[in-house]
Amino acid sequence: MKEPARHTVTAALPYANGPLHIGHIAGAYLPADIYVRCLRSRGKEVLFICGSDEHGAAITIRALKEGSTPKSIVDKYHGMMGKAFQDFGIRFDIYHRTSSELHKETSQDFFLKLHANGAFTQQEEQQYYDEEAKQFLADRYIMGTCPTCGNPDAYGDQCEKCGSALSPKDLVDPRSTLSGAKPVLRPTSHWFLPMDRSQQWVEEWINTGKLDGAQHHDPKEWKPQVLGQCNSWLKDGLRPRAMTRDLDWGVPVPLPGAEGKVLYVWLDAPIGYISATKQWAIDHNEDWKKWWLTGDSGSEAGMTRLVHFIGKDNIVFHAIIFPILLKLHGGYVLPQNVPANEFLNLEGRKISTSRNWAVWLHEYIERWPNRQDELRYALATIIPEFKDSEFTWKDFQDKNNNELVAILGNFIQRVFVLCHKYYEGKVPEATGGDEKDVLLWAEMNTLPNKVAEEVDRFRFREALASAMQAARLGNKYLTDTEPWKLEKTDPDRVRTILFNGLRISAALSVLLEPFLPHTAERLRTMLGLGPMKWDDALRADLIKPGMQLGKAEHLFKPIDDAAIAAEVERLHAMDPATPNPAEPNSTSTSSVQAHQPSTRTTASIKPNISFDDFSKLDLRVGSIIAAERIPKADKLLKLSVDLGEATPRTVVSGIAEHYEPEQLIGQQVVLVANLEPRKMRGVESQGMVLMSEDANGKLLFVQPKEMITPGADVR
Ligand code: 2FM
Ligand code: ZN
Repeated sequence: MKEPARHTVTAALPYANGPLHIGHIAGAYLPADIYVRCLRSRGKEVLFICGSDEHGAAITIRALKEGSTPKSIVDKYHGMMGKAFQDFGIRFDIYHRTSSELHKETSQDFFLKLHANGAFTQQEEQQYYDEEAKQFLADRYIMGTCPTCGNPDAYGDQCEKCGSALSPKDLVDPRSTLSGAKPVLRPTSHWFLPMDRSQQWVEEWINTGKLDGAQHHDPKEWKPQVLGQCNSWLKDGLRPRAMTRDLDWGVPVPLPGAEGKVLYVWLDAPIGYISATKQWAIDHNEDWKKWWLTGDSGSEAGMTRLVHFIGKDNIVFHAIIFPILLKLHGGYVLPQNVPANEFLNLEGRKISTSRNWAVWLHEYIERWPNRQDELRYALATIIPEFKDSEFTWKDFQDKNNNELVAILGNFIQRVFVLCHKYYEGKVPEATGGDEKDVLLWAEMNTLPNKVAEEVDRFRFREALASAMQAARLGNKYLTDTEPWKLEKTDPDRVRTILFNGLRISAALSVLLEPFLPHTAERLRTMLGLGPMKWDDALRADLIKPGMQLGKAEHLFKPIDDAAIAAEVERLHAMDPATPNPAEPNSTSTSSVQAHQPSTRTTASIKPNISFDDFSKLDLRVGSIIAAERIPKADKLLKLSVDLGEATPRTVVSGIAEHYEPEQLIGQQVVLVANLEPRKMRGVESQGMVLMSEDANGKLLFVQPKEMITPGADVR
């Protein structure tokens, strides 16, 4: 397929009915921001769009609960969300809102064009009505028992427990969300989108990527769970869906006889991407059309790549309903990909805004000032790309201490300290190089393409691990070359080593920028460099001999146990209904459970051995520098463990069901280093990693609490 001329990237418009939490961020906004930053760095033309979704029952019900008006609710949360995104470094080109006049005009025009094209059918039907509240009950205004899973609190549009799409009449024992009253049926008239008419082309477009006979996208690039959800809708058969509602909050239906009716929020919200683009174009004196239209804007068909970043609950709206609307309207590009993510859980439970079981973004920013990148990093390593994942404060601490501090920060610190010590902070001149340098650059040279390619495939976790590989290589290079031992005997070699260290630092500031933009900027300042592009990452002339370096700053600070325990406590205090694992009688499986007496049944202790027997064991600390799956062995991973020897050890370990390979890079482990080598699935294992099992049966490494030089013995 042709390289697109430009990329229109959208991130789901969040409802302006409450603050943002880390589930929102990991699910849509952080991956979108990484994607966009990486494209921009590679010189691509990109527009990154978002805004507040200010209509629909989510807003009006919140207003009722807060005893407020929909207008004050959206004003309050629109401002709050826009600021939190900004503070967290999510750099939209525009953060717009659907209560704006421009959005009203845009969505009304869109509706009228659809109407003129014969896209709707008008039908009168019986709908539930609340006689107390004097209102028709659609979507979230009506609740009842889910016919599929029996959840008593399913909504009129969806059961949040089993994910079934519902209509109010599917609910068993329906009740009004507004008054709790049993609703009655009343006739009302609405404009429906007969989606059944589009079934055939949608099925072909989604599964083959063909649109009107031309190849539009490659369905192999779509995530399996996105295709799966679309196909499950298609299998049930697309059905007509009402595109208007009897409500007084929303975009009024612009047709005669439609008084008291507004557009369905899922019709107006995605049009919000278009109205936001128009607003951006007005603000910047630009053309909005080339970002959305296929023909008349001077852009060739297929030259604009539209990508929607969303959470999994929005798949059908972006991959089926909005494309149908765009096609029926005519002239618009269709999404080339909808890289939806699954959900992020928090400390063993689903994030719940109503129960306050959440880490709120604006509060994090307040409590952890100038530490946005620490959270960006921790979240990027657990983006729920293919299945639900989990945030724990303990993992946040581990990622900070064991990876950001111990690997990235440590490398930069070592290079800068030595440059200050030997050359008064000036860039040294390299003279030649040896085999180690050749190997170093051979590996470094692969990284920019690798990271970019992984980002293009929406594999952000792998991409971050690949970018961090530059810091790991840097640390290994310093450990292998030991410049601190050579300064007296071979100062020329030391200059070359440290020049290479600075080049790796510069590469890191480019490769990590999409993930850690604040850190990348600090690093560039320390290096005395201005803004750089992706292709600059490995430029040999970037760092110029004689250039003055900044101070040897610590990029990251360790996070202690007390700070983490305080966060966990805070979380539990906000939701008093849940037991705090730090308190006695807890049943939670949260990971911060220090100092609890163990009640777990353990295997009985083996017979005593002599000290001589024990001293035969050679236990060493090692750092995992690479990890990969072993084909056809579901449980096994092949690890490369650095023990400070000439070559790393290959160790086969039965942990594949507990860890993704990329999670392991940089972890320190304890290895039985003198166990007889043994072949497993054709791979010779040269040692054994010590593990233990937690109460849930998860295997955990036995690890030193602080980073130790690889090869140190364990006594
Ligand atoms: O699920 C939600 O939060 C919706 N407000 C997302 C809307 S995305 C787009 F269509 F605007
Ligand atoms: Zn259900």
